[in-house]
This record gives sequence, structure tokens and C-alpha cells, in this order.
Amino acid sequence: MAFKVGLLGLGTVGTGTVEILLNPEQRHPLLQEIAIYKVGVRSPDKPRAVKLDPDLLTTDLESIVTDPTVDIVVEVIGGLEPARSLILQAIAHGKHVVTANKAVIARYGEEIFEAANQAGVYVSIEAAVAGGIPVIQPLKQSLSVNRIHTIMGIVNGTTNYILTRMQQEGGDFADILADAQALGYAEADPTADVDGYDAADKIAILASLAFGGRIKLPEVYCEGIRSVSAADIAYADRLGFVIKLLAIARRESAYNPNDTTDHLQVRVHPTLLPKAHPLASVNDVYNAILVEGDPVGQVMLFGRGAGSGPTASAVVSDVQNIVAILKTCSTAPSVVSTNADSEPHALMACTHQHYCTITPIEQLETRFYVRFLTHDSPGVIGKLGTCFGDHEVSLESVVQIGMRDQLAEIVVVTHTVNEGNFRTALAEVKAFPSIHSIPSVLRVW
Ligand code: HSE
Repeated sequence: MAFKVGLLGLGTVGTGTVEILLNPEQRHPLLQEIAIYKVGVRSPDKPRAVKLDPDLLTTDLESIVTDPTVDIVVEVIGGLEPARSLILQAIAHGKHVVTANKAVIARYGEEIFEAANQAGVYVSIEAAVAGGIPVIQPLKQSLSVNRIHTIMGIVNGTTNYILTRMQQEGGDFADILADAQALGYAEADPTADVDGYDAADKIAILASLAFGGRIKLPEVYCEGIRSVSAADIAYADRLGFVIKLLAIARRESAYNPNDTTDHLQVRVHPTLLPKAHPLASVNDVYNAILVEGDPVGQVMLFGRGAGSGPTASAVVSDVQNIVAILKTCSTAPSVVSTNADSEPHALMACTHQHYCTITPIEQLETRFYVRFLTHDSPGVIGKLGTCFGDHEVSLESVVQIGMRDQLAEIVVVTHTVNEGNFRTALAEVKAFPSIHSIPSVLRVW
């Protein structure tokens, strides 16, 4: 008897999911026990890349999530609604859920996982972060015996593609974005990618798993790549860095058994990364996640973060894991909600109860890169140095290489400083008559 999947959505990821499930040869034998039972679509008559029995298609998505025959609902329609409501309805009807929807999980994770725990069903989200890279399951299982102190990564392929091309071609952001859109590498509305929101959703989910607590998405500091210019990439290169959009979550202090409160930094921003850093050579649309824990040390996961096949690989692996569990706890696979009375699988369920405390960005200790355009008058560099010094901002290097638009271009890199002190100093510097403008302020790893 096969386990029945109700698939919501037959777009890019849904199509990849069907392709794997319809072609189980040379894959894990469990796939042969999974059947596509119904597929919810908007336009049943649309030509499709996969051959499916037309009787499986329906426009009534609610009928899938409420159908007693369905064991597992796979949600790959994306967007907040109706995805969130359909997931909750599926849970209420005792279905296990597999979703690729990072936006829903990052915003409504508490509501969804609490409903799932009460109903005794699983909600699996491997495909929600970094597409084909297995990172959710490693964090929940293989790496979970470690005390994780940092998880950081390149989790947005669109921005990594744009930054890589800016680096390789010396082009400016707007031109390369337009070209990426024409080539289909960037969405017509690129906001979620280029302004960092997609990466913020993903790091909120990863931080929650790595640090065992919930994350309030509005507390995740988020800055995108629109302000990164060709000039910054060229200066970074001379100074020994590349610029990457990093999503970072770190525990603030060493483990203290007397204070187990988690104080975390969770942030997304363009970052100057030393060329020797393991993430610095992750280019184009590729994603990578670096986990640092005790005692495992550094573990880096690399691969394709989006696309039909890679994301479907994650979706189907979640379906398969649920099927493997169902096989051990029931001989009647269509009756899945009966495990509401038993303990959930400790490594599959989400049982976080508390919210992590996120440190405000003003309290961050980091290095900065700043590019100033100044009027070329004597004493400018001295005044800059004095003002930063007055606010305990120690400078690592000050470079003046040339002129831009008849203005002197000065690039400053600080030592590790308090972000609040740095911002206060910068506000004072900005008011100096000799300062024309401050085109870029970036953090340095
Ligand atoms: N838009 C995302 C990216 C893929 O560019 O990586 C889906 O999360």
C-alpha cells in the first residue's frame, strides 16, 4: 500500500518533485512506496513539463488538505496566503506537511509548529533554506550534539550571482541587476533578494535550529546589496577582500552554565570577507553555509540553493523521512493522525518554546569599511582620525588612492569596534565641511 502525497503547486519546485517521484529507479527503494494522489494547480489545462494523469489535477486546494486519504501534504505554492492557511488546515486534518516556504515558516513558525505538535504530525522544511543543500536535517540531527556558536552563509543565489559578476566584470549594481533580470537570474521584482529579506527569513530559520529557540523576524537586522558599488568591490579587492551578502547568527558569549540565556546576533548585510575565508570562493548562484560548533569545529555545506531539481531533492527527502517514520508506527498508512497520543520523534519535531534574545545591532562589535569623498584640503585625514579616536573607534588603515569627480576618495578600515560608537563618530564626521559625502559603509569580517 502506497503513502499518498497531496501536492499543492505544480510550478518549478512542484514539477521537480513530480519528476523524482515518478522516476524512482536507482533512487532509494522507499520512493516506490510514495504515490502522487492529487495535485492542486491554478490552471489544469496549462501545458506541463511532466506527464501526469489529468484526473490527478484539481483547482480545489482545500479538497486536498482535507481529504482523509492524503497522508502527506507538500506545499510548494509559495507566498504567505493561501499557503499558511492551507498548511494549518492540513495539520488540523492530521496530515504531515512538507513545505519549501521560508517566508511562511520564518513568520508563522510558532503557530504552525504548535499546531503540528498538538495534532501529532510533522512539518518538514528542508527545502525552505538553501534549496538542494541538506542543512535543516544536519542541524536537527547530525550536528545537534555540538554547542553551535556560529552559523553563517551565502543563502541567496540571486545576490551572489550579481556580486560575483560585479567582481569579475567591474560593473555597477544597477546594470548587472538589469542584465540578470533579462537572463532570468533575478526576479522582475528583485526586492526580496537584493534587499536581503529572503536571506533574513533563511537565517532566522537556521538560527532557530542551531540555537534551539524561536527568533522574532523583525529583530533580524537586514541590509541588502543595492549600495554596493563597483568602486567598493575594487577597493575591497586591493585590500584583500571580496564582498558577499552574508547571513550570520552567532552566540554572543562563551557557554556559561550559570546563565543559559541565549544572546544572539542575527544579521544579514553585505560584508568584506577575507579572500582566504572558506565562503569567499562561493560564487555565482551557489549557496554555502558554514557551521562552527564545539567540538566539531568548522563544517561547510555547499551546493545549489534554488532551482527545480535541487529544491525538489530536499522536498522529496522530507517526504521520504516522514514515510520512513510512518512505516515504523503504523501498518495502515492512511491513518496517520493516531500518533497524536504518542511522543513525537525527538529529532523530527520542533519543540522550541522560548524566544532567543537578539542583541541590537548598535551593540555589535565588528570592523567597518568606510568610503569618504572629501574636498581636497589639508588636515582632512587628521580630523577623521581624531574624531574616530574620540569615540574609541580605532583605525586599522586609511587609504587615499585617487580622485573621483574632483573629490579625494579616502577609504578607512577600522579595528573591531562597537557599532554604536562607530555610528556616533560617523555622524560627527559627516558634519565636517570638508566631507562631501560618505557613499559606502560596510562591515568587515
Ligand atoms: N530567490 C532565492 C535566491 C531562491 O535567489 O537564492 C529561493 O529562496
